[in-house]
Amino acid sequence: MRRNFLCLVAAGIFISLATLALPVSVRAQSDGEKLFSARCTLCHAADGSGSSPTGKALKAKDLKSDEVQKASDEDLTTIITNGKGKMPAFGKKLKPEEIQALVVYVRTLAKK
Ligand code: HEC
Repeated sequence: MRRNFLCLVAAGIFISLATLALPVSVRAQSDGEKLFSARCTLCHAADGSGSSPTGKALKAKDLKSDEVQKASDEDLTTIITNGKGKMPAFGKKLKPEEIQALVVYVRTLAKK
């Protein structure tokens, strides 16, 4: 009897944690802008132009440029995940869906 009760409590905790985790991953998808300003603006500047001092020093490319925008989503995902030249790899720091959100956000920069 007591055991069953403990099982129920454990199941209850599990279910509430699972439902708590869900909105977090959904939110991450629309949070490309927040992720970008937290992780990327140091080198790419807020508008993606790479005009920040660090961006200039490392020669970060203008993310709004045709050269970058004509790359496929897969290419951009790979660059953000694995890095490229002086661009650090984010594969271990960010979840795949966060990198996805960043690719979507990089696309929106082109229109600004
Ligand atoms: C330490 C500085 C630095 C940070 C932080 C950084 N980048 Fe970069 N990034 C670079 C540099 C430098 C390049 C150019 C790499 C090259 O072409 O050799 C680059 C290139 C890129 C490219 C590909 C453009 C091309 O060269 O074709 C993308 C896309 C990109 N960065 C996105 C991001 C995103 C998204 C973030 C945040 C998660 C980020 N970067 C964080 C320095 C940085």
